[in-house]
Amino acid sequence: EQIEKGGYDHFMLKEIFEQPNAILDTFRGRLLTDKAIIKMVGVEDNMKKFLNANRIIVVACGTSWHAGLVSEYIFEDLARIPVEVEYASEFRYRNPVINENDVVIAISQSGETADTLAAIKLAKSKGAFVFGVCNVVGSSIARETHAGAYTHAGPEIGVASTKAFTTQITVLTLIALRLARAKGTISSSDFRHHLIELELIPEKVKKALESDNYVKTIAAIYKDVKNFLYLGRGYNFPVALEGALKLKEISYIHAEGYPAAEMKHGPIALIDENMPIVVIATKKGHYEKVVSNIQEIKSRKGKIIGIVTEGDKHVKELADHVIEVPETLECLSPLLTTIPLQLLSYHIAVMLDKNVDQPRNLAKSVTVE
Ligand code: G6P
Repeated sequence: EQIEKGGYDHFMLKEIFEQPNAILDTFRGRLLTDKAIIKMVGVEDNMKKFLNANRIIVVACGTSWHAGLVSEYIFEDLARIPVEVEYASEFRYRNPVINENDVVIAISQSGETADTLAAIKLAKSKGAFVFGVCNVVGSSIARETHAGAYTHAGPEIGVASTKAFTTQITVLTLIALRLARAKGTISSSDFRHHLIELELIPEKVKKALESDNYVKTIAAIYKDVKNFLYLGRGYNFPVALEGALKLKEISYIHAEGYPAAEMKHGPIALIDENMPIVVIATKKGHYEKVVSNIQEIKSRKGKIIGIVTEGDKHVKELADHVIEVPETLECLSPLLTTIPLQLLSYHIAVMLDKNVDQPRNLAKSVTVE
């Protein structure tokens, strides 16, 4: 097992650090920046279905559901296709309105999640076209769907999903961009610009990973708190949810993710000098508005951990700590802002002496209801 961990203390840490290469593997043969094209067989073969779709319904569970939420922003923003993101467990029992004009995208790392599999079967029985985004080749979901795209993240052993999440977002971004180009909702120059920026992501993830030691010092400060709040907006709202989930899963600290602007409708009541609040405040994502949320937190003495764009000055003045990530397009920022949140939960769990790779009560793949 030590050998399999490749010198890392835990699979989770190894998998966090594998992300630059995992994303490169996801790109392979698909992102052809020189030719200014994206090639995805499962999408090309079914282009008509995608282009005629009234809407896309994403079904997934857990971290994969969060990747689905990120994709809602990107599909709507770039490809102008309405998207609904559903917990597979709710969708399957809701008697959903769905028909042959719907495209269902099922996202699953393992490809074995019982609820997601059941949601797929239901969607198929109503005539919908079902597209899978799986990591495990030949898994039940990969076989049950009409077509799909693998994430190619490689085996993920840690129960808390890391590289599966970022590669799911990568695949979904490629699909959204491909559809945007086909629909003409993105100009060719803008498309090219997105491809160039996408190509730079693995290097930028590497850069974001350099915050590891600094994140560790922050973890040491907050490891004994009982509650954490994570805030983000737009593309980074799902990242806030995912950051909170990671912390809950492996450190057993209660954490809530919230859209930053919703803070005033509830979580603000919890804020005092004992409450650390992780705020994703990157430059292009409603920056000014998030900064004003940070001011509200500060006036209530909450402890602020800002995830900011390299060189940021404004948040630095207000926050107790800032963790920088490289600048990128807003739609690609989740691929970078996720990294410090993974590291933060990892280091807190290690310091609390928890079983990072196999947290209590959780399973890597949930094959029963
Ligand atoms: C379990 C795992 C999570 C995962 C979720 C969905 O809860 O512990 O990490 O996100 O199942 O799994 P899937 O394999 O369908 O992505």
